[in-house]
Amino acid sequence: MIKVENLVKKYGSIVASNHLNCHFEKGKVTVILGGSGSGKSTLLRQLTGLEKPDSGAVYFEGRDLTKLSRKELYGLRKKMGMLFQGSALFNYLNIYENIAFPLREHTQIADNVIKTIVTMKLEMVGLRGTEALMPAQLSGGMMKRVGLARAIVMDPKIIFYDEPTSGLDPISTGVIDKLIKDLNQKLNITSVVVSHDIESCFRIADNVIILFYGDIIAEGTAQEIRDSEDPRVIQFINGNPEGPIPFTRTDKNYVDDILFD
Ligand SMILES: Nc1ncnc2c1ncn2[C@@H]1O[C@H](COP(=O)(O)OP(=O)(O)O)[C@@H](O)[C@H]1O
Ligand SMILES: [Mg+2]
Repeated sequence: MIKVENLVKKYGSIVASNHLNCHFEKGKVTVILGGSGSGKSTLLRQLTGLEKPDSGAVYFEGRDLTKLSRKELYGLRKKMGMLFQGSALFNYLNIYENIAFPLREHTQIADNVIKTIVTMKLEMVGLRGTEALMPAQLSGGMMKRVGLARAIVMDPKIIFYDEPTSGLDPISTGVIDKLIKDLNQKLNITSVVVSHDIESCFRIADNVIILFYGDIIAEGTAQEIRDSEDPRVIQFINGNPEGPIPFTRTDKNYVDDILFD
């Protein structure tokens, strides 16, 4: 579905994407796992065409996103659903209007049909009957679910999630994880989930990509990642503070030198 080739993105002296090569399989949930500052959000922005890389390619269904015109990209993005960190709901619109927003913006669909679609999407995220509520009246978990209903309102082929469970309590986290997995199957779509939560990752992932300060240090099925013998991967998935993962980017070169040269 998506293939990334030799992707490079730098911010000043920081290499946020360091010659990344990876792919996202159609119909699967792929989790991009990594600590804070490892370049997860940067990769996600490039996968969705929101940001252009310095070099490299992102093939979405065979077409290189980085070479498309603004207009072509705009068209392509209609096939993508996105759930951003913090849900990004419009505070001044009720739940119904938040979810209807992309339909009003991008289509000519009649109001009564919009109503049917919104009701159906709300039902899918388990929030039937909440149409009239305002975002401020919702819990964090409910906001994420409204954001998710909005992300699927245009029937995307792929959904991108940036840290969908960060800041949520364990029960809400479980609900969102289950929704991600269920929607992936029910809607027959592809899902890309950015996360730093290892437990959450293994609950939902078919495939896992681990980022480590701009580098991909592992890519494989969830089982392959669990069985990895790379000390950085072992430390990361065990959440072990005493190990090769350094706490700053400056330590990284030093650690690379002693461990991998
Ligand atoms: N727009 C930007 N301008 C400057 N530096 C950035 C920008 N976006 C990200 N970075 C830097 O790139 C690195 C990776 O960031 P990010 O992709 O947000 O990581 P993550 O999502 O894994 O926490 C960090 O060091 C961050 O400070
Ligand atoms: Mg991030």
